[in-house]
Amino acid sequence: MSKKVLVLPGDGIGPEIVEQAVRVLDAVNSSFDLGIEHESALVGGSAYDETGSPLPETTLTKAKAADAILLGAVGGPKWDGLDMSVRPEKGLLGLRSNLELFANLRPAILYPQLAEASSLKPEIVAGLDILIVRELTGGIYFGQPRGIRTLENGEREGFNTYVYNESEIRRIARSAFEAARQRNKRVCSIDKSNVLEVTVLWKEIMEEVSKEYPDVELSHMLVDNAAMQLVRAPKQFDVMVTGNMFGDILSDAAAMLTGSIGMLPSASLNAEGRGMYEPCHGSAPDIAGKGVANPLATILSVAMMLRYSLDAKDAADAIEAAVSKVLDQGLRTADIASQGSETVSTSQMGDAVLAALKA
Ligand code: IPM
Ligand code: MG
Repeated sequence: MSKKVLVLPGDGIGPEIVEQAVRVLDAVNSSFDLGIEHESALVGGSAYDETGSPLPETTLTKAKAADAILLGAVGGPKWDGLDMSVRPEKGLLGLRSNLELFANLRPAILYPQLAEASSLKPEIVAGLDILIVRELTGGIYFGQPRGIRTLENGEREGFNTYVYNESEIRRIARSAFEAARQRNKRVCSIDKSNVLEVTVLWKEIMEEVSKEYPDVELSHMLVDNAAMQLVRAPKQFDVMVTGNMFGDILSDAAAMLTGSIGMLPSASLNAEGRGMYEPCHGSAPDIAGKGVANPLATILSVAMMLRYSLDAKDAADAIEAAVSKVLDQGLRTADIASQGSETVSTSQMGDAVLAALKA
């Protein structure tokens, strides 16, 4: 039976990096005989320009029918002035919530070849391998009520709601404990329970769920401390589990420990393991169209997609090995190059991964 992948290039550097990732997908599709079919659709600002919506109905229908989705990135200054309801980001958030992709896995792995590219000292980051499990369809991103209202005195007030119910916490807790079982069996849950009730409940449910996983060690950390520990001694962490907004922030910090956010893939999964795969970085409008963006995070997202949603572990391993090999060969896009050294373009990096796959 053939498997369907929906490709959503999106905005900014999205189309350039996705193009390289799709070449890699096509290559393993034929060499491993995976029977994958893919088609593309619009999302984000480019979808808004074409259709007036950042998440057109046709895209959502195709997304629901797909076994997996590969997404580039959305957003850019061109659409900054738009009403919140039609901003490019709403396309991404709409996909996450409509498909119930509540479990966002963001690995931060330091490739030894890139230790020099990290802004931290090599001894602090060498061997780094963290997994951030971010809740993706709840919390303050989606809580109601929200908006900007005018008070009686004429002053305007912006407001959002930070809310989690028990079942939302329980299912992301399970995702984190399950992931930890495949790794070093430690979960650190991140909260702000010294101030926010919602995270008092979060912490309580984490404790409750941890009883189902006696083989996994659970600890707790306040989010401000976690931010500090991430840049002080990041190797203390194995799996970090947290809510939507804290996860957004901490995963950018964790990504940077590895030298470049341009290296990190992510998976967003629903309860059945179907998912959307995307690089952790954004649409980088400042370098869009220049052919200098790093396609490796998107290529590694293809590997995650093959592993988690398409039951093709060997092909995933092959892609990851190929990426490691091109790094060994010294190929660097600008974001991961050490100062003054030679860099390759987006498509040259794609060529190199393809060549490494064939070798
Ligand atoms: C991310 C991004 C998104 C988020 C934006 C683009 C809506 O920063 O995936 O981390 O905040 O979740
Ligand atoms: Mg983010």
